[in-house]
Amino acid sequence: MATETPASRRVLVAKPRGYCAGVDRAVQTVEKALELYGAPIYVRKQIVHNTHVVNTLREKGAIFVEETEEVPEGAIVVFSAHGVAPAVHEEAARRNLRTIDATCPLVTKVHNEAKRFAAKDYDILLIGHEGHEEVEGTSGEAPEHIQLVDGVDGVDKVRVRDPRRVVWLSQTTLSVDETTETVDKLRERFPELIDPPSDDICYATQNRQMAVKEIAREAQLVIVVGSANSSNSKRLVEVALDAGADAAYLVDNATFIRDEWLEGVTTVGVTSGASVPEELVVQVLDHLARRGYDDVHEVETVEENVRFALPHELRRDLRGAA
Ligand code: F3S
Repeated sequence: MATETPASRRVLVAKPRGYCAGVDRAVQTVEKALELYGAPIYVRKQIVHNTHVVNTLREKGAIFVEETEEVPEGAIVVFSAHGVAPAVHEEAARRNLRTIDATCPLVTKVHNEAKRFAAKDYDILLIGHEGHEEVEGTSGEAPEHIQLVDGVDGVDKVRVRDPRRVVWLSQTTLSVDETTETVDKLRERFPELIDPPSDDICYATQNRQMAVKEIAREAQLVIVVGSANSSNSKRLVEVALDAGADAAYLVDNATFIRDEWLEGVTTVGVTSGASVPEELVVQVLDHLARRGYDDVHEVETVEENVRFALPHELRRDLRGAA
């Protein structure tokens, strides 16, 4: 009697995945600040949107607060990678806080664009997700000039003073395809709409979306490692589904994977958001291997070698301590 050949069970792992340069810098900022100044170090909001990272830093002595008013006078506070509005800097200065700004330089770039267009009195249409910290920070640069456009459905609500003086900017972690759709719709309403001087959706977001598309074409199931409040991770789930995966799920870690997701699946795709440490991906791969998915291939779409220097206020003190 012929023996049945077991179905091959493959895993395609997207590359690039995981930490981007901005997250790496922000996490290192808190770690180095703890080493240099000692605990506690206050951090306004989650330094990056990942539960594991936040819990690990908390164990090392970081105290996460929602607003600077919760930080004792004179203490050190780190601003998160998502950026803050000028009002937050002013409040920190009023309360004599020592601040370290871990805003990703690519978010700062969008802040600078917003300031520049506001100074020229343009109406700025900021494409982004309502309530996201990055959007709140960017909007705070010029609240009287910026209005939020939360996706294609938000386009009809836009009101501008002069349709010849309108520019669009965006949150850095959006879906590239969806943003293109929103911009096209905006341009139908405002044919003279000006594009940002360079892409606002950052290299890391774009690269991770490109890589997940590649694996989603062949995988029936895509597992995206990332936390529920991580914008770029959530976009990876949507992009995977759009690219042809039958199912895609966001999981904080391997314990969230349900065995029924794997039923009948021969190829699983795995990737992770820009705020996710690689150890969580390794745990997912181990979990899959224990269920027979041990034929693992990495699919690389682009090589990344972006790095950002630590915030200057921290570099200065590190130099002084050397
Ligand atoms: Fe910066 Fe993009 Fe990462 S804006 S924090 S490089 S996801």
